Amino acid sequence: MEKLVVRGKRKISGVIKISGSKNATLPILAASILNKNKIEINRVPIVKDVLTMVELLKHIGSNIKLDFKKKRILIHNKNRILKTTAPYNLLKTMRAGVIILGPLLSRFKKAKVSLPGGCAIGSRPVDIHLFVLKKLGAKIKIKNGYIIAKTTKGLIGKKIKLPSVSVGATENAIIAASYAKGTTYLSNCACEPEIKDLTNFLKKMGIKINWIGERKIKISGKQNLKSVNHKVMFDRIESGTFIIAGALIGNKLKISGIEPKILKKEISILKKMGVKIKVNKSDLIIFKSNKIKPAYIKTEPYPGFPTDLQAQIMVLMTKANGVSKIKENIFEKRFMHVPELNRMGAKIKIFGDTSFIYGPQQLNGAEVMATDLRASVSLVLAGLSAGDKTIVNRVYHLDRGYEKLETKLRNCKANIFRKN
Ligand code: EPZ
Repeated sequence: MEKLVVRGKRKISGVIKISGSKNATLPILAASILNKNKIEINRVPIVKDVLTMVELLKHIGSNIKLDFKKKRILIHNKNRILKTTAPYNLLKTMRAGVIILGPLLSRFKKAKVSLPGGCAIGSRPVDIHLFVLKKLGAKIKIKNGYIIAKTTKGLIGKKIKLPSVSVGATENAIIAASYAKGTTYLSNCACEPEIKDLTNFLKKMGIKINWIGERKIKISGKQNLKSVNHKVMFDRIESGTFIIAGALIGNKLKISGIEPKILKKEISILKKMGVKIKVNKSDLIIFKSNKIKPAYIKTEPYPGFPTDLQAQIMVLMTKANGVSKIKENIFEKRFMHVPELNRMGAKIKIFGDTSFIYGPQQLNGAEVMATDLRASVSLVLAGLSAGDKTIVNRVYHLDRGYEKLETKLRNCKANIFRKN
């Protein structure tokens, strides 16, 4: 099994070009199911979750081609009737696959999609996804670990308030409503930038979608859609990860190909912690930051601080002069990285959904185990700032969402290599 070997305490400097967003690419690929005309998607990140979604679309019969070199996906389904069953073996590693349920049901009036199952960070229920589809007219039952959904007359637009904020359920709802008859008003939606990227993609296909409030959307469904060419937005979480790497061991580290205004919350928190950041129009530079101050952070839906950066900022907090606190409000088990960080010399205590990080603590290298995508990258960050050598096992977690992580870091003078 592959591992990453990191030798820390090396200052990193240079330029890191951010890849396209995994969490925008996945719903955009799901939405391609609605369209029989040509689709071109650019700046696609070549990461495992995207490859899995491409496999899933191929499995249901989509005419989809991925150009690894150009980071481009071409889809042209013409009048193909796609298979409407998504099997467990493709969903068990990537829960996001459940967002093909809405488009399959909306276009083909039926769908059988495996229940995604839980993961290291939580049980990952899909009740809100099903709630919305039922409101749009779907009949749904759960049998043998599958969601079996159908609608005889096709989905019909409605006024729907989501019971709680959910990124995936909002995406399923938007895509399903885009092909439904009539108009849908969704409220209490998630409004992550990746969802805005999805609605931009759907608008380009000819669907009338308007954000009529921070968490409110009006969608007029349409069945004949136009060819579309779309460039995926930058990866917000990859950007935040590398900004924190710069805060830990950077000295003039430039993060390019981004829209800093989307990272407003993260940048303001890091600046308050004493990180020296110069923000430009489409990039930012992190300078050597010595005196890191403690912080209290609670993870929230966008525009709050993202849960996907919680593990990463915790590593920076080990450097802070004082006690920091993180309240994890989104997932019930998202502190799996804490025991591993403590093995590297961190002093972190967990009380329920809150972690207290006592700093400053000098981390030291150790052999550690990755448990999920963002926990694994926090161990790499810890290795970069620790003395001597860190070995991060189960790197397949990391490969789900980071494109060429070690290459990007090595190009900025980090000592990090992949080993079998
Ligand atoms: C998306 O997951 C992201 N994944 C996650 O990123 C991210 O952490 C999460 O949103 C929160 O921002 C993708 O975009 C592919 P949710 P999702 O539905 O849609 C509960 C990464 O690292 N919930 O907003 O699954 C749920 O249990 C991944 O790239 C229900 O109760 O997140 C959680 O507590 C990890 N019922 C909360 O809502 C439901 O039907 C937020 O989940 C759905 C969700």
